[in-house]
Amino acid sequence: MAQAGMRVIVVGGGVIGGAVALALARRGVAVELLERDLVGAGASGAAAGMLAPLSESQAPGPFLPIGLAALREFSPWVDTVEALAGVRLDLLHSGVLMLAAPGEEAALRDRLDWQRQHDPGATFLDGPALARLVPHLAAGPAGALHYPNEVQVDARRYTLALARAAQAAGAHLREGTPATAILQAGGRVTGVATGRERLEADAVVVASGSDGALLRPLGIDLPLVPIKGEMVRLLPAGPLAGPIVFAPGGYIVPKADGTVLVGATQLPGRHDLGVEAGAVATLLGFAQRLVPQLAAARFVDAWAGLRPGLPDRLPAVGPLPPLPGLWAAVGHHRNGILLAGWTGERLAEALLDGRPLPAAVLPSRYLPPAAG
Ligand code: FAD
Ligand code: GLY
Repeated sequence: MAQAGMRVIVVGGGVIGGAVALALARRGVAVELLERDLVGAGASGAAAGMLAPLSESQAPGPFLPIGLAALREFSPWVDTVEALAGVRLDLLHSGVLMLAAPGEEAALRDRLDWQRQHDPGATFLDGPALARLVPHLAAGPAGALHYPNEVQVDARRYTLALARAAQAAGAHLREGTPATAILQAGGRVTGVATGRERLEADAVVVASGSDGALLRPLGIDLPLVPIKGEMVRLLPAGPLAGPIVFAPGGYIVPKADGTVLVGATQLPGRHDLGVEAGAVATLLGFAQRLVPQLAAARFVDAWAGLRPGLPDRLPAVGPLPPLPGLWAAVGHHRNGILLAGWTGERLAEALLDGRPLPAAVLPSRYLPPAAG
C-alpha cells in the first residue's frame, strides 16, 4: 500500500499510462497523469482491441504465460474500470480463428501442441468444421486453430475509460501537457518539468509509448522502435457475426457496432501517421479474398498508429536502475490493450510493495549493468 502522501507522475495518456494511473490511484497514491495531446491520441486509439495472447504467440516463450494471465485478469479489471468510469465497455467473447496458409496445416498443428499446454481450450478445426463455424469465409482454407477464449473491446473507448476511471479513483489528468524533462536531485528522481511548470513527485513512471525521447537525456536508451500499423474500417451491408479471423497477411475483426476492422500493416522505424493508398488497397484485397461479401461493404475510414516495439517483442515494465524513483512501462508492441491491466497492477505492486516483476519484462535487460 502507498505510504501516506506518496506522489507519482505518470507520463503518457495511452492505455498503459491510464492503467498504471488507475492501479496506483486505487491504492491511495496521489497521481498526476500527463498527456501531451489528448488521451488515446497514440497507438492505443488506433488498435484493433483484441486480447489475443495465443493468436499473438508464434513460438514458446515468456510472452504467452504473461498474456494469458492478463486475459484471465481482464474480466474483473474491466468490471472495476466500468464501475469507476461509469461506462460500458462491451467485452465481446468473439474467439479467434487462425487460418492455415496453403500447405502449412502441419505448422499450425505443431503450434497447437505447445499452446495447448497453456490453454487446453485451443483446438484444430478441419475445413468442414471451419465452414460450419464461419459460413461467410471464402472456401479454401484446409483448417484453422480456434482460440475460443480470446476476446475483444473497443480500444479507444477502453483507453478513455481507463483515464476516466483513474480520475474517479483520485488521479489528476492533464491533457495538452508534455513532460519535457525528468527532474533529479541527490541521485534520485524529484519530478518532471512541463512546458509551464515543475511538478514534484516521489516517483515518475514513463509510459510514453514508442517515444523514448524523455529518457535519452538521462543516458537511458531503451531500443524502442515505432512499428507503424495501418488499419481500415468497413461497414458491411449485414452484420458479420462470428470470430476474429487471422490469416496470412492480416486479420479481420467484427466489432460490436457492426463495423469490421481490417488490419494491419507493420512498418518498423516509420514515425509518420499517414495512410498510404497502397496499404489500403492491400488490406481491402486481403479482406475481400477472405470474406467475399466485404467487396460490397461501405468504406468508413482508415488510420495509422505507432506500436511501441522492443527487439524481444516484450514490454519494459519496472524500475530504471540508473535513477532511483524512475520507472518505465513501455514497449507493449502488438499487445498493449491485452497487457494494460496486467502492467498497471504489476507495476503498482512492485513500486509500492517491492513485489518482484518477471525478469523477462524488466527494463534493465536493455541497460548496461549499474556501475560500482
Ligand atoms: P500510446 O497509446 O502510444 O500512448 C503513449 C502516450 O504518451 C501518447 O498518447 C503520447 O501522446 C504520450 N506521450 C509521449 N511522450 C509524452 C511526453 N513527453 N509527455 C506527455 N505525453 C507523452 N494491442 C492489443 O493488445 N490488441 C490489438 O488488437 C492491437 N491492435 C493494434 C492495431 C494497430 C494498427 C496498432 C498500431 C496497434 C495495435 N495494438 C494492439 C498495440 C497497442 O495499440 C499498443 O501496444 C498500445 O496502444 C501501447 O500503449 P501505450 O500507452 O504504451 O502507447
Ligand atoms: N495486435 C494487432 C496489431 O498490433 O496489429
